[in-house]
Amino acid sequence: MIEKINQYLEETKEFVASTIDEIEAFRIKFMGKKGLVNDLFSEFKNVPRENKKDVGQKLNELKVSIQEKINSLKENLEEKSDENSDVDLSLPGDALKTGTRHPISIVRNEIIDIFKRLGFTISEGPEIEDDWHVFSALNFPEEHPARDMQDTFFIEKHPDILLRTHTSSVQVRVMENSQPPIRTISPGRVFRNEAISARAHCIFHQVEGLYIDENVSFADLKQTLLYFAKEMFGEKTEIRLRPSYFPFTEPSAEMDVACNICGGKGCNVCKYTGWLEILGCGMVDPNVLDSCGIDSKKYTGFAFGMGIERITMLKYGVKDLRLYFENDVRFLDQFKSAL
Ligand code: DAH
Repeated sequence: MIEKINQYLEETKEFVASTIDEIEAFRIKFMGKKGLVNDLFSEFKNVPRENKKDVGQKLNELKVSIQEKINSLKENLEEKSDENSDVDLSLPGDALKTGTRHPISIVRNEIIDIFKRLGFTISEGPEIEDDWHVFSALNFPEEHPARDMQDTFFIEKHPDILLRTHTSSVQVRVMENSQPPIRTISPGRVFRNEAISARAHCIFHQVEGLYIDENVSFADLKQTLLYFAKEMFGEKTEIRLRPSYFPFTEPSAEMDVACNICGGKGCNVCKYTGWLEILGCGMVDPNVLDSCGIDSKKYTGFAFGMGIERITMLKYGVKDLRLYFENDVRFLDQFKSAL
């Protein structure tokens, strides 16, 4: 029997295999339930007592040796398959593409930050509005052209319901729901029935501002807007206010900043005037205060409204409004550093 064991020992030590099937066949032949090693263990019963110790040791040696052989055959095979696979572990990884904030969001957040520093809160209102909040409460006369289908998107079945054409509707909601002192800005999306071009779009974004308290004056308005312009466009920025007209403010003005593209010398962006209009503003008309439940004898206030697309154009030199809505990553990627 010892001889047989030695023979198996040699045979198994020399065994080589190149596939997992060959290893498995080898395992079954020797170590399977009906395998040769088990046969030997059955024979072991008949070994005379005085030889049992030697034969037993030898038999265990065989069993351990075969198990080790099987393990090492398997390991070799795994290593080989790693070497042969198409995966090159030394290749550098693929960079994870990170998104960017949309330029409109970047500038909106910047505007919010600037006014927050002055103590303004943020308020929001619905995009689908009624005539009262968009026009009537803001002193728009019945025959005002903005109420025309040409300029405003109305809901077909309900002529009183429309897409807001400006965020001034939010100031009405704020005044209806709170009492002075009120200091708030309202960023949001607005809609106008316009043909889409480089300079106009049917969807755009505005930020409305409203400040109401006792003794608020035009000087407060001017100082607030000057602070805003300097924070937004740089310390040296100059502003000018031109008289204008809005139904909901009296007096009304439009604010220009010195063109930061040509430095005020005149270029095609500022139409050779050296100035760029960025917002409308004025003292809230007493009629509007009264319509919204605020005592116009006690309180005064100012309001302003600016277009975010326009300010973004000036800040980053974007020349075509349509780029904001196309979501071309080559355009959006350029704002990575501005995050
Ligand atoms: N709502 C105006 C517009 O969309 C902008 C505006 C002008 C807002 C004057 C105001 C303001 O609050 O006082 O053109």
